[in-house]
Amino acid sequence: MPRKIIIDTDPGQDDAVAILLALASPELEVLGITCVAGNVPLALTAINARKVCELAGRRDVKVFAGCDRPLARALVTAEYVHGKTGLDGIDLPAPEMPLQKAHAVDFLIDTLRAEAPGSVTLVPIGPLTNIATAMRKAPDIVARIGQIVLMGGAYFEVGNVTPAAEFNIYVDPEAAEIVFKSGVDLVVMPLDVTHKALTTRPRIEAFRALGRVGEVVASWTDFFERFDMEKYGSEGAPLHDPCTIAWLLDPSLFTGRRINVEIETRSELTLGMTVADWWGVTTRAPNAYFVGDIDADRFYALLTERLARL
Ligand code: RIB
Ligand code: CA
Repeated sequence: MPRKIIIDTDPGQDDAVAILLALASPELEVLGITCVAGNVPLALTAINARKVCELAGRRDVKVFAGCDRPLARALVTAEYVHGKTGLDGIDLPAPEMPLQKAHAVDFLIDTLRAEAPGSVTLVPIGPLTNIATAMRKAPDIVARIGQIVLMGGAYFEVGNVTPAAEFNIYVDPEAAEIVFKSGVDLVVMPLDVTHKALTTRPRIEAFRALGRVGEVVASWTDFFERFDMEKYGSEGAPLHDPCTIAWLLDPSLFTGRRINVEIETRSELTLGMTVADWWGVTTRAPNAYFVGDIDADRFYALLTERLARL
């Protein structure tokens, strides 16, 4: 039986690749895609998610708009990374498939109540506003969530939007605190692992050789990587969000450890920091499987093989 997942997302080129990987993989059943404000405002993330579904030939996928701002702060966006549309690199046609009428938070609640307890995995790859709002609005769903596999946070890699914080957590630290304290089985893909999943010329050319979908992905990564290459002087850009889907498909690609992770929500200096007790120096109970490493060659081989199926 395919694993039932809901992808919560703020597309974003790397989100888009994660969505394509999920839609190309028969091991997964995407029950819905819930959009959140993050890389770009909600109106654009809801358009971009549908552009990606149509690129994959999947107008059947239900796409929902969710929260348009964080729980308790002004929205911070990242057009400087993703471009003004959030999917810069190539112009895709405006989506024809409709946005679902229900709010994403209500879809999350209704689906978790309708599906068998523990049978649904949530895959948040943007700020955690929708997930935290659903947990606050309907506390009964927390125990029904099978697992949360999220992209966010950092330890050795520290921060990418401030010296201390990774973007998804920084945008809505209050939401992240709710999710990390929820008691749900968490798998965390931080910058420590995503920064080891770098695009390179050969990897991008392998995408480009796949045909239409690969050409689009290569155009996105060509655009998306310029920021990270300038900033880090690296050979390519980290494909952050697809790491979550790849973990669902083949966890042997990754290594990590189960540790305690808490979220800084008070200090302006370190707001949004994931305080990861990697070395077990506190007595705080472990609450997350925090991933530290990846076999990048096998990851890109899996990604390329799956994109070729679309
Ligand atoms: O810090 C990387 C994360 O922020 C990724 O999810 C990217 O899409 C942006 O949302
Ligand atoms: Ca994202």
